[in-house]
Amino acid sequence: MIDTENLTKDFGHLRAVDNVSLHVDEGEVFGFLGPNGAGKTTTVRMLACLISKTSGKASIGNFEVGNGSDQEKIRGMVGLLTENVGLYDELSAYDNLDFYGRFYKLSLQKRQEQIKYFLKLLGLWEKRFQPAGTFSKGMKQKLAIARALIHDPKVLFLDEPTANLDPEASKTVRDFILELKKEKRTIFLNTHLLDEAEKICDRVAILKTKLIAEGSPQDLRRSASGRRIKFQVRQVDDAIVLIVKKLGFQVIESTGNTLLVNVNDPEKENPIILKAIEAVGAEVQFITEVSTSLEDVYLKLVRG
Ligand SMILES: Nc1ncnc2c1ncn2[C@@H]1O[C@H](COP(=O)(O)OP(=O)(O)O)[C@@H](O)[C@H]1O
Ligand SMILES: [Mg+2]
Repeated sequence: MIDTENLTKDFGHLRAVDNVSLHVDEGEVFGFLGPNGAGKTTTVRMLACLISKTSGKASIGNFEVGNGSDQEKIRGMVGLLTENVGLYDELSAYDNLDFYGRFYKLSLQKRQEQIKYFLKLLGLWEKRFQPAGTFSKGMKQKLAIARALIHDPKVLFLDEPTANLDPEASKTVRDFILELKKEKRTIFLNTHLLDEAEKICDRVAILKTKLIAEGSPQDLRRSASGRRIKFQVRQVDDAIVLIVKKLGFQVIESTGNTLLVNVNDPEKENPIILKAIEAVGAEVQFITEVSTSLEDVYLKLVRG
């Protein structure tokens, strides 16, 4: 649904997005991660045809970004939630959505249907005549996402949808995104929040001007660090550490009753380590995998 090939954007001498090639399937929720200034917003603005690209290719569905006659089609196909939400505080929830529906030249009937659908989905139908300014931050943000969906776009770009929201409002918005996921819409989510990406996204990419990693959150977690297995014994001693190291394994931590070992293939390597520990006279009580958080991977990649 979304494809880019060496997509690049320069602002004068500054390269904001450098040769980014990525692919997002239809119906996928794709997380675009990266620190501030990584080029996430710039990428999305190019994909939504709000700014021109410097070089490379990008397409949404069958339409080319940057091709004059395709631009209009892409604009109709995508919905965008930007950093500044753009709701009118003094207009009611209904009128806010109606305003954007008119902007997209939807018929009266289509507007009525869409607005009712979304306000019900948001639990705001009863409050449809209240000014948007009276809503909580989380509600406002959900209304803003509904606004971005009013013309029923196939692709939804969400640029940091939970930035500046308190934890409760963030959760409200995240739950709404999970709800939207059921509709099989393609969602491209810019975020610098890793746990958010992990909760919502099927796949993620990490951007730092260039693309530095791409995969499922689970793939990324595994790729960067191998897997960590915790062996619990009564008391870790030098003999245990030595024998495991001798087998060529990296011992990450050895304290008290815990030996933390980096392995690549636990199904094969766990039994080898287990036997080695038993060979020096110790008893293994528990073997568990310690998951590496996406955050560890992200920091390693972003700093590296
Ligand atoms: N209109 C612009 N003119 C000049 N530089 C810009 C413009 N927009 C963004 N940049 C620069 O491009 C880089 C990427 O910015 P941005 O895409 O906003 O990053 P992110 O959304 O990942 O925080 C930053 O260094 C930013 O200062
Ligand atoms: Mg941004």
